[in-house]
Amino acid sequence: MQGKFISFEGPDGAGKTSVLNQIQSDLEAEIGKEQVMYTREPGGNHISEQIRRVLFSPENTDMDGRTEALLFAAARRQHIVSEILPGLKAGKVILCDRYVDSSIAYQGAGRHLGEDDIWRMNQFAIDGLLPELTVYLDVESELGIRRIAEHRSNQVNRLDKEKLAFHQTVRQAYLRLYHQFPERIKLIDASQPLEKVVEDVRRVIHTRFPDLFQAEN
Ligand code: TYD
Repeated sequence: MQGKFISFEGPDGAGKTSVLNQIQSDLEAEIGKEQVMYTREPGGNHISEQIRRVLFSPENTDMDGRTEALLFAAARRQHIVSEILPGLKAGKVILCDRYVDSSIAYQGAGRHLGEDDIWRMNQFAIDGLLPELTVYLDVESELGIRRIAEHRSNQVNRLDKEKLAFHQTVRQAYLRLYHQFPERIKLIDASQPLEKVVEDVRRVIHTRFPDLFQAEN
């Protein structure tokens, strides 16, 4: 089987982690554990995990926005080389928790660095590698923030603490990306109950890659 690169995106509190866990186990049951690779940005290998620690350390609240954007892009580059390209070469389905769209939305829009500039800067990092499918979990900012407060108050990171306006700006940028790349990005209403969201994500993956989930459909 040919490798497939699928990214998952969404504002904080969209439920991305829960959805991804479920999608990963469904896929593993369907096509075999060794065919599926879950990985996350920034991270996935020892170099990117070190960059992740610098990015999310509560000590680094004085980090410059451009520094932050460059570090995300550096972590992304290493992640591509260490994880994604070898996974694709081995024919795996790669479920990637965040990719370049996160930088456009969070650094480009959220931090006002400019979506076009962040896009251009990231071209050097990704060197043309875009996912075949991006699943965008859309949630209204108020609900997203409420979910973070309810479920993960013990592990809120530096970036989670941004104000409502930041979350709204991030979401608007995601919606612009969705309209800009309708072929690649599919929007899922993540305000629905988890089961329904998972069902919708499965349908989108199935439509895009009909050879997966073959046994059921
Ligand atoms: P993480 O703890 O992985 O949470 P989540 O489940 O929301 O993905 O934190 C990722 C945070 O990093 C999230 O707030 C979005 C942010 N981020 C950026 O700002 N730019 C990026 O390029 C990426 C990949 C993530």
